[in-house]
Amino acid sequence: MALTGVLRPGHAQLRVLDLGESIKWYTDVMGLVPMGKDAQGRAYFKTRAERDHHSVILRQADTAGMDFFGFKVRDKATLEALEQKLKGHGVATERMPAGELLETGERVRFKVPTGHTIELYCEKKNVGNATGCVNPEVDVIDGPGICPIRMDHCLIYGGDIDGNLKLFEEVLGFNLVERVKLEDGTTDLATWLTCSHKAHDIAMVRHAEDAKLHHVAFQMPSWESVLRAADIMSVNRVSIDIGPTRHGITQGTTIYFFDPSGNRLETFCGGYDHYPDMHPITWTWDEVGRGIFYHDRKLNDAFLSVVT
Ligand SMILES: [Fe+2]
Repeated sequence: MALTGVLRPGHAQLRVLDLGESIKWYTDVMGLVPMGKDAQGRAYFKTRAERDHHSVILRQADTAGMDFFGFKVRDKATLEALEQKLKGHGVATERMPAGELLETGERVRFKVPTGHTIELYCEKKNVGNATGCVNPEVDVIDGPGICPIRMDHCLIYGGDIDGNLKLFEEVLGFNLVERVKLEDGTTDLATWLTCSHKAHDIAMVRHAEDAKLHHVAFQMPSWESVLRAADIMSVNRVSIDIGPTRHGITQGTTIYFFDPSGNRLETFCGGYDHYPDMHPITWTWDEVGRGIFYHDRKLNDAFLSVVT
């Protein structure tokens, strides 16, 4: 498949309670690369492997959570076309000026039916990765920190996930990969969507309160690296929600854990390749525990209740 339209998740802006402590934690424990601060005091990070300027932005605030999640699109023509499609779908859009985020071009910002702020953009400075683009070596990662490959996806909680599904499929060109049904067998409890060949680029769970974040996930290169991440979490007394374990849904391996502000993060590895001709996988209510946590085969209370 030639990738056009929306390419991939590009950035997440998280609210943190103590910016100084968080900068140290995201650098030392997560192993992200600090990429500077802007005039508003926000701190920017990328992984070693990411080539664009940043993928994580931290903002000092009184409450934890996610301000917005951005997707990179193919080019300016795509950005214009998707903005028009959004307007045609009845979605109000706002242009964020170039430079409002460091080294980033204009962004098209809008709210989805669950109240989350989503952005599209096509320009962010290519600063290169740790190994360069000419005759590169393998990036031999021996720490410090977890050192994920990329910021990979997010899971959001809100009411109208049916409206979200319609918008992401019909306007933004995402494909539905997996879904979990409620007891009635027809209503979606949760959906996993992709804009690429990945098992998911964003997921959403039906929830009484809008605009909530369940987690932002980082891709790891192997199951062994997920286990190494668990060791690093214990060494640094990181609060672990669950894992290391496996999801039935997407079949990825995982740890859910919390940053110092209570934002849930995930180290995720695996997941099968998705192509647009594949039919969505459905999980029924009686098997939802095995779907979410394949080894425990039951949900933990925190999965459905702890959000920021
Ligand atoms: Fe995830």
